[in-house]
Amino acid sequence: MSKDLQIAIDGPASAGKSTVAKIIAAKLGYIYCDTGAMYRAVTYKALQDRIDLTDEQAVMQMLSDTKITFIPGEPVQKVFVNNQEITKEIRQPEVTNSVSTIAALQGVRKRLTVDQRKLAENGGIVMDGRDIGSTVLPNAQVKIFLIASVDERAERRYKENIQKGITTDLETLKQEIAVRDQKDSTRKVSPLTKADDAIEVDTTSMNIEQVVAKILEIVAKKS
Ligand code: DC
Repeated sequence: MSKDLQIAIDGPASAGKSTVAKIIAAKLGYIYCDTGAMYRAVTYKALQDRIDLTDEQAVMQMLSDTKITFIPGEPVQKVFVNNQEITKEIRQPEVTNSVSTIAALQGVRKRLTVDQRKLAENGGIVMDGRDIGSTVLPNAQVKIFLIASVDERAERRYKENIQKGITTDLETLKQEIAVRDQKDSTRKVSPLTKADDAIEVDTTSMNIEQVVAKILEIVAKKS
């Protein structure tokens, strides 16, 4: 098995990307990089600073004055803002519901894309996001596009939340996922798209082990 592949896993919110990407990275001894966490960290800091999230200039100014650090790793990638760890904070609903606005800013995407390419330059990485196969790593040897129905994704998120002790309403989750899909797919810059050479895997009726096995099968053919 080659040790230096770039594996891109893209797809809509809650399709199971991070769960399977983490397992695959661990099995291959690769780095795992969650690019959504990067957009979340910028969103968290902008919210903390009470910046208008649509004001690109203000957000870019904040970014240039802020040190955001991502430490790839297992079981989670750690995220710091000016040396304060915000790994948990970036999962708060307020961040989740605002992140699409930040992810639509061209300057932010450019800046994070540079960071992501640097992390991936030596390969041996599983990177998940929305535009990894299409924009960030167009030469990735393995490109997977994971999808699942909105109902299935909302149910998975609902169960995950229960495990975390968070109470949510299933219908609200469905609506939030649908809104995020719409925003992520229709934004002007680098929208959520399946790269022409990506392999689509519909996980609606698959469990995690089956999805992991399917992707490892695809990886094995490329190594
Ligand atoms: O994967 P996630 O839900 O943590 O991602 C958070 C948001 O960041 C999501 O709404 C879309 C955006 N995102 C993006 O635009 N490009 C990426 N490569 C990763 C995430």
